[in-house]
Amino acid sequence: MPDRINDLYLNCVEQNGLLLDMHLLAEQVCSEGQTRRPYFFAPNIHKSFRMVSTGEQPYDSARRAEIARPAVLGTFKHLDGEGPGISHEALIIKESGSWHVGLPACLDIFFPAAKAVAEDVLSLYGPDYFQDAQICFFSQRHNVLPGDPGKTSGKDLHDHLESDHGTMDLLYVMTDCFPTLFQLSEKETELYPTETLSLSRFGPEIRHVSPRNETGQTLRRTFGTFNIHPKAYLYDGMPNNAGLNLKRAQEFEQAATAYLQSPANTLTLYPDPVALGG
Ligand SMILES: [Fe+2]
Repeated sequence: MPDRINDLYLNCVEQNGLLLDMHLLAEQVCSEGQTRRPYFFAPNIHKSFRMVSTGEQPYDSARRAEIARPAVLGTFKHLDGEGPGISHEALIIKESGSWHVGLPACLDIFFPAAKAVAEDVLSLYGPDYFQDAQICFFSQRHNVLPGDPGKTSGKDLHDHLESDHGTMDLLYVMTDCFPTLFQLSEKETELYPTETLSLSRFGPEIRHVSPRNETGQTLRRTFGTFNIHPKAYLYDGMPNNAGLNLKRAQEFEQAATAYLQSPANTLTLYPDPVALGG
């Protein structure tokens, strides 16, 4: 394991991966009739705050608000905070058009969350949306000095309506300290934290901020975020993830099964996501 995972091809000594084929689960979702019409931001019209329905049903703002509202999907026992420092650009963990979700083995602690995110997207929106969607992953593990925000780029209250040219539909975040604070409505000034050591979902229209380290001590923070794009957005056709090497699919799928069954998997999902603020 390298001291610091900056670039997965250049610095990561192993090219192993963990891989899931979501196709079987997608067939289950179809047969159980859970397919729902997808509702998401229309790319590049985010400034008007207009959203569209891609199905035959009219746009359902109540349903969108329900999906976008910050909610905790589950909690971790730990996130291996003493591991190597991590800093990398967006890693595509699911390509548009594919059913496979994968991570390099050196990022295995994030794999249970990647699986939970993929299953959540599939059950929220159904297989057609899931197959078209691109999922990008960012992670960071670093020391947060006293007074510094957990995530420097998120130190002020912000939303992600303009991020990635307005193509982002949902975000999932996980962290082991300084959980993100959310503003649940424009009228409310109170900010609500997600749980520490949690995996949480929210829409890019929700304003949020990364809190500062007020403990007086330097703390090591492990953070991950999964960004859902309804269509290919980043690096389309340019895979940057050693875990998506489908020539080794069988081997990587076996490794994924073993990891998910091992004590290293510390993610416990709630039966249903728990919305912040009751
Ligand atoms: Fe943010």
